[in-house]
Amino acid sequence: MRFVSDSPRVAVIGFGYVGSCLGVTLAELGVPVVAVDDDASLVERLRAGECPIPEPGLAEALGRVRDTGLLTFTTDHDAVRDADVVVITVGTPVDEDGALLTGALEQACVQVAARIRPGCLVILKSTVSPGTTTNLVIPLLEGSGLRAERDFGLSFCPERLAEGAALAQLRTLPIIVGGRGPASTAATVRFWADTLGTATHPLPSPEAAEVAKLATNWWIDANIAIANEVAQLCAAFDVDVLDVLGATNQLPKGDRHVNILLPSIGVGGSCLVKDPWMVWRAARDRGVELRTVPVSRGVNDGMPEHTARLIGAELAGLGVPPAGAVVAVLGVSFKNDTGDLRNTPVAGVVEALRAQGCAVRLFDPLADAEEVRARFGIRPTATLEDAVDGAHCVAVLAGHRPFHDLDLAVLRARAAHPCLVFDGRRYFPKADIEEMRRLGLRYRGIGR
Ligand SMILES: NC(=O)c1ccc[n+]([C@@H]2O[C@H](COP(=O)([O-])OP(=O)(O)OC[C@H]3O[C@@H](n4cnc5c(N)ncnc54)[C@H](O)[C@@H]3O)[C@@H](O)[C@H]2O)c1
Repeated sequence: MRFVSDSPRVAVIGFGYVGSCLGVTLAELGVPVVAVDDDASLVERLRAGECPIPEPGLAEALGRVRDTGLLTFTTDHDAVRDADVVVITVGTPVDEDGALLTGALEQACVQVAARIRPGCLVILKSTVSPGTTTNLVIPLLEGSGLRAERDFGLSFCPERLAEGAALAQLRTLPIIVGGRGPASTAATVRFWADTLGTATHPLPSPEAAEVAKLATNWWIDANIAIANEVAQLCAAFDVDVLDVLGATNQLPKGDRHVNILLPSIGVGGSCLVKDPWMVWRAARDRGVELRTVPVSRGVNDGMPEHTARLIGAELAGLGVPPAGAVVAVLGVSFKNDTGDLRNTPVAGVVEALRAQGCAVRLFDPLADAEEVRARFGIRPTATLEDAVDGAHCVAVLAGHRPFHDLDLAVLRARAAHPCLVFDGRRYFPKADIEEMRRLGLRYRGIGR
């Protein structure tokens, strides 16, 4: 059977971060999309024209498709009956032992199975441990009485987008396709080419695609752990980690270059903190012990404490006792240029600073103020000026683009004397650091 018609109607099951970036992009490209999410309040907010997902450009894109009729929102899974392609993007958390919690995924599959039609293509995008597509998703979908690869197409296509750059990446990043069989793979390759216009990278099985996804995030986490340890080594020898990485990363290795990523205050978000554990647990269940996973996770999880210790020591070195010092944190999300607070390492830094007696102020132009208050127990300031006035330390812990225009002279004038500028992941250029020295601001970064 050949799956998917020439002008497919798409149902996206789970309209959180991944689902909304994908669904909005497809609708912008003229594809009719129905967003199905069990969260009634989320659906209400979307219907009211709100964009609850803090991804740059998403609110604007949502605005552009609003009146086209191409994107509709519902909690009613019956919408699947009219779909030619069903994309599953529900959350897949892990428990404390790294085991995949399949509740939402199972429920979504049962809901789809009750409504799926012959000729349909189902694409799973949620991150899962190896074997999940074959051993869990397919049997649940076949509860419909239809057979995967014979009556409906089924592929696992891992989502690899990076928050902050998701909308651009969605239209450019090649999509890995792990089809149930050749017909599923062919239909999936064609679907992505006809809609997003992206290249695809077919793999021989869903398992290969599942491992590829997890190996990617395992590598990223381990690479960042190395960067964080190189940074600590650099600090011990009073050299700038960015000078060092500029040199290491020039070396050709294999058909690429050495590519040590950037050090920072830690790793957060929804993927890097859980996917390495998911692969570690899946390996252990097969009798394979992955030793790099716990080591890398440990290094990266230790960075928020390390950051707070550095700030405390620098303040003490300036003659400012950390107890009672005012620290203005600029950027509270888990990385640059997103307002996403999930597993943000800034929370660990703030907690450790408060444990030292620091008074912490927060400012983030991208994060939702109410979410910040709920997450940190601190109401964020409305403006950057409110945060930095009289502060003994200005800690840029997420280097959002608006902080690139920080006026250092104004900062000097408003902050306390002396004042530490701490660089968590802004990676201030050398010229700015020189300027800070000239103005009498003390600069310190991770490995700098
Ligand atoms: N956030 C990222 O950047 C990213 C990147 C790559 C991969 N992933 C993976 O993609 C998946 C989704 O991640 P996310 O960040 O979008 O999660 P999310 O928590 O933001 O969104 C999941 C959505 O699914 C909905 N949902 C749960 N069960 C449902 C059901 N049965 N029917 C309909 N809706 C249901 C929830 O209400 C929620 O809105 C996860 O497996 C994640 O690991 C995420």
